[in-house]
Amino acid sequence: MPDFIVTPWEVSGEVDYDLLIKEFGIEPIDEKLLFYFKEITNEIHPFLRRKVFFAHRDFQWIIEEYKKGNPFYLYTGRGPSGNVHLGHLLPWIFSKWLQEKFNVELWFQLTDDEKFLFNQSISLEETHKYAYDNALDVIALGFNPKKTYIFSDIDLAGTLYRNALKIAKKITFSTVKATFGLDNSSNIGQIFYTSIQTVPAMLKSMIEGKNVPCLIPLAVDQDPHFRLSRDVLPKLGFYKPALIECVFLPNLQQGGKMSASVEDTAIFTKDKPDTVKKKVNNAFTGGQANAKLQRELGGNPSVCSVYKYHFMLFTLDDNELRSIQSKCIGGELLCGECKKDLIQKINKFLNEHQKQREKAKDIFEDYLLKEKVDLKYLINEKNKETH
Ligand code: TYM
Repeated sequence: MPDFIVTPWEVSGEVDYDLLIKEFGIEPIDEKLLFYFKEITNEIHPFLRRKVFFAHRDFQWIIEEYKKGNPFYLYTGRGPSGNVHLGHLLPWIFSKWLQEKFNVELWFQLTDDEKFLFNQSISLEETHKYAYDNALDVIALGFNPKKTYIFSDIDLAGTLYRNALKIAKKITFSTVKATFGLDNSSNIGQIFYTSIQTVPAMLKSMIEGKNVPCLIPLAVDQDPHFRLSRDVLPKLGFYKPALIECVFLPNLQQGGKMSASVEDTAIFTKDKPDTVKKKVNNAFTGGQANAKLQRELGGNPSVCSVYKYHFMLFTLDDNELRSIQSKCIGGELLCGECKKDLIQKINKFLNEHQKQREKAKDIFEDYLLKEKVDLKYLINEKNKETH
């Protein structure tokens, strides 16, 4: 038995991603696929080059369809149970890049219902409030307002429920139990919930009245939901959604993903410069016990959480990263200096993000999708185009 757990509601232990590929039945992203992809994008995002996005389902098909003139739309989301941390941003930053490269729509789901059902200590009012707060982090990343639809499940309940019913009817309780580890003590909302998360993977096809390919960027913990979606949607006449999956940004201690529930080891988008400094200075590193030993023996970047942050998010220039790595191994770079560099980079990023987050409050409405008004408008616009 592996000594780690990856489900949409729990990630613990040191995740073995190779094993996960086999267990989940996902495909690794290989050089051949990247080469094929690069024919359209002309460049490969560092997240792909560095295998931060490491696995997929039907990504090749998405590219093939795009090449044939059948473009896709993007769908991703957030379960708003608290503040957004840097880990959450990984799939969103990548989605933003994909949106720009392919000039496609993004549908962004805020699952206030999910967090209410799965988290004993949060009220529906709180998750709903966090949905709007977390949406500011999404908008702050600079998605195209003309091509991005952000919605809370509670606010879009009518449309979601109507479609979720068709999905729910095709999923048995035993499948949900086997997929998510739910049992007889689970509340009945939890059993139904996955059908709500499937809806946005077919919503655009429903609106357009024809099948539109859907690509979902996510971290691998969300894969089980879409395994079910891929099973059910073809039975309702829709394409299977394609997935592109990333590893977890780790926490600042040894092993495990960045998680909002362990506040001191996660960096939140609202953190102040001093908080970031304190957290990074307390991080687990691959360094030696003191500077003298570090100079003699060198450090070990492969176990170092500070290096992982450079690698995954903050030192995307390959030459600069190589230099950090070789100086660390060679004992030239001390942990204090490496942390200082990371603190500066994180604070620079957060300073800009926080400014954009403030501005997002004024343009919020441009992104927000609400029941009836917006959807009817979308459908009418579509009808105008086709008739
Ligand atoms: P949530 O809020 O747990 O996470 C939001 C997104 O962030 C990813 N993620 C991470 N990625 C990298 N490193 C981490 N440490 C880390 N922690 C979380 C998650 O995989 C997710 O992509 N049920 C979902 C919300 C949702 C959704 C979707 C997500 C609804 N529809 C479609 C992806 C795609 C949730 O609670 O995500």
